[in-house]
Amino acid sequence: MTKNILLLAGDGIGPEVVAEAVRVLKWVGAHAGTSFHFDEALIGGSAYDAVGTPFPAETLSKAKAADAILLGAVGGPKWESLDYSVRPERGLLGIRKELDLFANLRPAMCFAPLADASSLKPEIISGLDIMIVRELTGDIYFGQPRGVTMENSHRVGRNTMVYADWEVQRIARIALDLARVRGKKLCSVDKANVLEATEMWREEVQKIRDAEYTDIELSHMYVDNAAMQLVRAPKQFDVMVTGNIFGDILSDCAAMLTGSLGMLPSASLGSETGGKRAALYEPVHGSAPDITGRGIANPVATILSAAMMLRYSFNLHAQAKLVEDAINAVLADGLRTGDIMQAGARHVGTKEMGDAILAKLDTLSSTQRGAA
Ligand code: IPM
Ligand code: MG
Repeated sequence: MTKNILLLAGDGIGPEVVAEAVRVLKWVGAHAGTSFHFDEALIGGSAYDAVGTPFPAETLSKAKAADAILLGAVGGPKWESLDYSVRPERGLLGIRKELDLFANLRPAMCFAPLADASSLKPEIISGLDIMIVRELTGDIYFGQPRGVTMENSHRVGRNTMVYADWEVQRIARIALDLARVRGKKLCSVDKANVLEATEMWREEVQKIRDAEYTDIELSHMYVDNAAMQLVRAPKQFDVMVTGNIFGDILSDCAAMLTGSLGMLPSASLGSETGGKRAALYEPVHGSAPDITGRGIANPVATILSAAMMLRYSFNLHAQAKLVEDAINAVLADGLRTGDIMQAGARHVGTKEMGDAILAKLDTLSSTQRGAA
């Protein structure tokens, strides 16, 4: 069976890291007997430069047709002074909205060989494995009214936090389903002491839990406390669910606990219709303009995003696990890109890291065959 994967390499280091993930996907395709067909399209600043918009119509139609999308990164200083409506970030927000990719899964796990790379003490983060579920198509990111207007000779800036009950319910179900196959614990994060929209969020999440998921232990936490708890004792969490803006902030915080933003993948999923679910996979890190084109970016987050694609879009669970194991083994061998460099480790570039992961896939799969 052929699976169509759309590559949106984007800006900065995007193309460099996507190239390594494609090599890994090709390896998996060849070994799993699944044929992956790759297509490419423009997004972000590079799309703006080429065709005058960060989110071309052709990209949207290719995205709708694809079985899964792999995105590199968008943005960079070159485009920061552009009008808001054509900034690279609009490409990313546009594709999330158009494909209704409302469920953003951001795992934060600590790779054992990197426990020392965190700014927190190793005992606080070793074995860490959190899943942050961020609602991605609502909230202050998209709410109306918005914008800057003149009112009584003063500039007034306005954005609006909006959620409808059905939006909360559908993200709550995604998070509760994940909790069910993990540690059966969900923490919903809000600011219900101040914001009515999030008080409603809290009530709706609780309703869904009480009606359909009584096997899951649900707790609620204010976002300020959640930020504090994440750095104080992150292992108390299993699955966390929250809205778009709180999730944006908390997921960067959780990511950094693990030592490097360059290590973390994400999946953005839509609802299932006719047996198909729109899905976009991307590293949590950005376009890293400071190191673009030098061949030194860490491709691991993008390769892990490809592993999430194998798991969530193609049901290739064993293959996803194999890719994750290969990455762990390469780290255990002491290979490090600059962002996770440690004393005594071997410093490698983007492509060398990709080579090492492919070589490890060969070794691990032949050992597995040998054992079978
Ligand atoms: C993220 C990013 C985006 C967001 C930006 C680039 C629009 O920070 O994916 O977390 O705010 O959602
Ligand atoms: Mg962010």
